[in-house]
Amino acid sequence: MKHTLFEKRTGDILQGLRDTGTLKQLRYLTGPMGPVVNLEDSGEVIVLCANNYLGLANHPEVVAASRNALDKYGAGTASVRFICGTFDAHRELEQKLARFSGTEAALSYVSCWNANEAAISTAVGPNDVLLSDELNHASIIDACRLARPLRRGVYKHRDLADLRAKLEAATDEAEITWVVTDGVFSMEGSVADLAATLKLCREFNAMLIVDDSHGVGALGATGKGTAEHCGVWGEIDVITGTLGKALGGAAGGYVAASQNFIDLLVQRSRTSLFSNALPVPVAAGAAAAIDLIERDTTLIDRLRANTRRIRSGLLELGFEVQDSPSAILPIMIGDEAEAIRKSERLLELGVWAVAFGFPVVPKGEARLRLQVSAALGDDHIERILAAFKQL
Ligand SMILES: Cc1ncc(COP(=O)(O)O)c(C=O)c1O
Repeated sequence: MKHTLFEKRTGDILQGLRDTGTLKQLRYLTGPMGPVVNLEDSGEVIVLCANNYLGLANHPEVVAASRNALDKYGAGTASVRFICGTFDAHRELEQKLARFSGTEAALSYVSCWNANEAAISTAVGPNDVLLSDELNHASIIDACRLARPLRRGVYKHRDLADLRAKLEAATDEAEITWVVTDGVFSMEGSVADLAATLKLCREFNAMLIVDDSHGVGALGATGKGTAEHCGVWGEIDVITGTLGKALGGAAGGYVAASQNFIDLLVQRSRTSLFSNALPVPVAAGAAAAIDLIERDTTLIDRLRANTRRIRSGLLELGFEVQDSPSAILPIMIGDEAEAIRKSERLLELGVWAVAFGFPVVPKGEARLRLQVSAALGDDHIERILAAFKQL
């Protein structure tokens, strides 16, 4: 029997979203993710909102690696890692992730959300202070809530003077001070100055955790992420990342850090102790994606060229696009309903770019967020710019 009050409360919230034109609609794809997808309700559209930065989500080598793993290992792990869910394919992926991240070791999770919860709540002790950038991803915010430090603090977005002041204040108080930041901020496309942040951390003997979900595979001369972009590859204390974006785009996440810390995660992190292992076909697909990125810089070069072309084309058309080396291009609109209307109009024009409003971004800062892919060809880019011209 339905609970009347609960049904009414839920219905009222949904009606409120409908009334303000801010109800999110799920759109169904009827084929693979690529530069162009087929949408059940809108037909063929060019994708400008996927995390498919390098176009590997349907790359033949990634698909073949996943398919071979499916044949060899079957569909499911049917266990958490420490019981009977650890396969040799996990070790292979984790060795590659560690090498790619410039760390001693790595551990995979079923998502970066889980990896952040694992890393932050396991690392931070009860006498520590935990400082977090105000625009950090929701998974970092929730992970910080799960941790139980002496004190949590939030510093202004990429504001090193504010971070310095907060580190100074924490010095006498904390056993260890932790700083946690995104490498690339998902809603802004802004990039953390990891060289300066790391220098500050070293000055105050603080530890640095970087979630590089949007940087790995998409930034740096060879795609090794924000640390490489900032000239500090191999120096970050703890890196977390997703396999669901540039590294194949399926799902999964990881923590890359010292062998000691990874060993501790195996013992203590609740999201690996009490949750099934990453499916092996997914692990194998991600390993193949890393191989592709390490082979040469064709994909990352293409991503950079595409991003430059789209950004400069949009600027020429008069759109305000933030200057950033990342492949995320936010176009600020302000009003959420207006942002949704614009994204719907773009869809009619054959371009899929999603509008983001509260609670994903602060109220009054709704935006269209474009994500460029190496899979886009010149013709796609021309069609994208033509659609924005009409918009
Ligand atoms: C910065 C950041 N961290 C973590 C995540 C979560 O990644 P996953 O999808 O692997 O849980 C995302 C996904 O949007 C992200 O942007």
